Formats: sequence, structure tokens, C-alpha cells
Amino acid sequence: MSQYDVIVIGSGPGGYVAAIRCAQLGLKTACVEGRETLGGTCLNVGCIPSKALLHATHQLHEAEHNFAKMGLKGKSPSVDWPQMLSYKDEVIGQNTKGIEFLFKKNKVDWLKGWGSIPEAGKVKVGDDTYETKNIIIASGSEVSTLPGVEIDEKTVVSSTGALELGKIPKKLVVIGAGVIGLELGSVYARLGAEVQVIEFLDHITPGMDAEVSKTFQRILKKQGLNFTLGAAVQKVDVSRGKAKVTFTLRKNDSEHVIDADTVLVATGRRPFTDGLGLDALGVAMSERGQIKTDAQWRTNVPGIYAIGDCIDGPMLAHKAEDEGMAAAEVIAGKHGHVNYGVIPGVIYTHPEVANVGATEETLKQEGRAYKVGKFSFMGNGRAKANFAADGFVKILADKETDTILGAHIIGPMAGDLIHEICVAMEFGASAEDLALTCHAHPTYSEAVREAALACNSGAIHA
Ligand code: NAI
Repeated sequence: MSQYDVIVIGSGPGGYVAAIRCAQLGLKTACVEGRETLGGTCLNVGCIPSKALLHATHQLHEAEHNFAKMGLKGKSPSVDWPQMLSYKDEVIGQNTKGIEFLFKKNKVDWLKGWGSIPEAGKVKVGDDTYETKNIIIASGSEVSTLPGVEIDEKTVVSSTGALELGKIPKKLVVIGAGVIGLELGSVYARLGAEVQVIEFLDHITPGMDAEVSKTFQRILKKQGLNFTLGAAVQKVDVSRGKAKVTFTLRKNDSEHVIDADTVLVATGRRPFTDGLGLDALGVAMSERGQIKTDAQWRTNVPGIYAIGDCIDGPMLAHKAEDEGMAAAEVIAGKHGHVNYGVIPGVIYTHPEVANVGATEETLKQEGRAYKVGKFSFMGNGRAKANFAADGFVKILADKETDTILGAHIIGPMAGDLIHEICVAMEFGASAEDLALTCHAHPTYSEAVREAALACNSGAIHA
């Protein structure tokens, strides 16, 4: 029987990062994964493949809408859908093989198969049982469906099926205006589908700064996405490969039915812990099916830790990665730490949307005195040249101390721009600190500095 210091269950961004860090810290480590390839949902059927399709379709959008304006004339490219899907698969392959390489390089054993925990200190994979001093559960999440909606991954799809549709639908109905619905809705709108997004709330992107959310909806509408807000989907009926979506409008309870070639269910994800044997072990779970942990990712069973989507907090790959590294450090006797106040969120549409820290709404709820520094990309030369001037940077700072409390960006490369504000927040910086930092010209980053200036003395190009 092999003896390990740590066995990690699951090889998504949480699990593989935890395994590599454990090995780097000198612990004998294995990682259990039942999929054919490493990398979990993110690399195989999530973040990475969706970004490949977003990239390809954005190029198409640029060719169709902006090339002629720049003097690039000629026929717009036509879509070879099977080739676009193979490009996406190629990208997945490069990434998953990269993790396999990193496992070999760091001497992490890949135990192939689905793991379970017969007792603390043991992990079973197929017919083999391995002894281990510590276990990190990083089993991730799965799609959460609605009552009355059955996902067949053909006509009614989750994000997984939406990444490999047999053909581009004429009419796509998206249930849920969250991250998945809007990213994949954008992909198919750019490919020519008529996209109808049905959302339960009266606004898109729950939890997002309201001003950003409104601007985002306006921009997406211009790009051809249609929204029905305040609508609860009741059921989806499928017949001969076509769907009928029934929903009620919450304001008057009226019932409506719309047709679709494809329905994307994007109403959230839930923790995935099936088959691990957690009940028998007595691992404490929350009412929402999350594994309960303390501040150092320990469950109530000694020697068993949990990280990522299967515990509390935002279901984000980078949050899982940070927890993976920190849990490894705790196991190695060091001081693993995650600053949950500075975890950015990004939506990879065009323009991108990114946020970190408090929103105006949360600050108001807390009764906290704050100031707002806002700068439109219309005042940014680089954004104008690149047809990317729709959007803004908004920085929220404490009214008295000027400490940055949060930031919200809708605009070009927002997902990258947000990080200088994350670093500033990590160091407890003030808006003035950002404003006093020289920013190269002409860059999109200048808009961040201008928003910081707008918190105090005022932006220059506003
Ligand atoms: P989500 O939680 O972001 O959005 C789900 C939406 O569905 C909500 O707006 C909700 O109000 C709506 N909804 C729920 N029930 C409904 C009903 N009956 N009728 C109409 N609307 C309904 O969930 P999503 O987009 O499925 O994403 C799942 C997870 O994956 C999220 O935690 C997200 O953060 C993560 N993710 C992150 C990405 C990123 O960071 N770029 C990309 C993709 C996913």
C-alpha cells in the first residue's frame, strides 16, 4: 500500500495547484482524477474553452464591424464551425497536457479514477486503497438545474453542451443572466444566433455594481442580445429537437411561451461531493451542500481539508487556486492565507467587466461614508483608437482615509486592468497612491489612474 503525505481529490484549478504546492513544499503527493484529462471543469469544459470561443467570435465581430472603418476592405470571414470547435479542443489539449507535464516535473502522482474516502487517512481509487496523512478535497461543482427543466446536452444544454453544439442555433434561449449565460450568449449572438436571455431578477449579473450592470445590459443589447427580466422559467418542453420555454413574468404572473432551437441553462452551480463517502465519515456540511471548513480549510474530521467550489465563497477558479496554495502551506506547517476581500471577478465578454471589493450598494448598506472616482474610456486615447471607448472605471474610496474599498470596470481589458487595483488594495493603498503613480501613455491603464485622480483632485481628460 502506497503511503503519501497528501492526497488531493480532484485536479481542477484548486486541486492541481494544491498538489503542486504540496510537492514543492517537500510533501509526497498524489492527485486523484477520474476524467480522461487533468484540469477539471475549468480547463476541460469551462473557463478555457469558453475563452477560446469568445476570442474567435470577437475576431469575427471586429472583421464584420470595424475592419472597413480602418480601411481594411474585403469580404468578412465566414464561419467554419467544426474548425472553430477543433481550435477550441486544441487549446483545451495544450492546457490539460500542460498540467500533466507539471505533475511529472513536480513528482505528483496522478491516481486515475474516481476517489472515495473509506476512513480518515485512506483514499480508495478503483480497487486500490492508498494511505495518506492528509486529504484535500477539491471536488468542485456541477450544474444546478431548475425543476421542470431537463438537460439533455443536445437541445437543452448546460455550459458543457453549449461548448460543443452540433450546429449554430438560429434561436438560442438562455436561462439566467449570470456569468455563463452572458459569456456564451455573446458567443452565439456574434455567430448570428437570435439570443433571448430570460432572467429571474429585474437586473442582469446579480451582485454586480448597479451602474455597471445597467451599462453592461445596454451594451449587450446593442450587440443583439435580448433580455426578458423579472421572469421565472417554469418548464422547458422538447419535441423533435425543438424546445418551448414557459416562463411567468413576476410583475403580473402572466404566462408566456417562446420557441427555441437550443436552450442554455445557466442558473448557477452547486458543490459536487457525490461518491466521496462524506456522510459515513461524518464530515459536516452546510444546508447548501458545501463542505464546512474552518479558516484554515480544515473540515471537522482531522486530516481532511476542503477547498474551492465545494466549500463556501465565490465559485471562481482563482479563489480555488489561492485556497489550494494556502491549504498546502498549512499542511506543511506554514501560514497559508487568503485575503477574501480582494478576489477579483471578471466577465470575459466584449467589453470585459471586472470588479473587486465593495460595491456602492454594499457600502450604502453598511452605512459607510465613501467617495467615487469615475472615468469614461471616452477620455482615453488608446480606447478611442481601438473602438473600445464604451465603458468606464469606477473606484470607491473611504471618504475620510482615501483607502480604496472597491473598483468596477467595464471596458477594454478590464480583466487585466483590475489587478493594479487589487495590488493597491492588498497593500492598503489610498486612491491618491494610485493617482501619484506614473502610468504609461497611451494605455488603457491611464483610465484607472484618471479614476483614482477623480476620487480627489479630479481627472485631467474628463
Ligand atoms: P450565476 O449565479 O452567475 O447566474 C445565474 C443566474 O440565473 C442568476 O442571475 C439568477 O437570478 C438566474 N436564475 C436562477 N433561476 C432562474 C429562473 N428560474 N429563471 C430565470 N433566471 C433564473 O450562475 P452561472 O452563470 O450559471 O455561473 C455558475 C458559476 O460559475 C458562478 O459562480 C460563476 O461565478 C462561475 N463562472 C465564472 C466565470 C468567470 O469568472 N468568468 C465564467 C463562468 C462561470
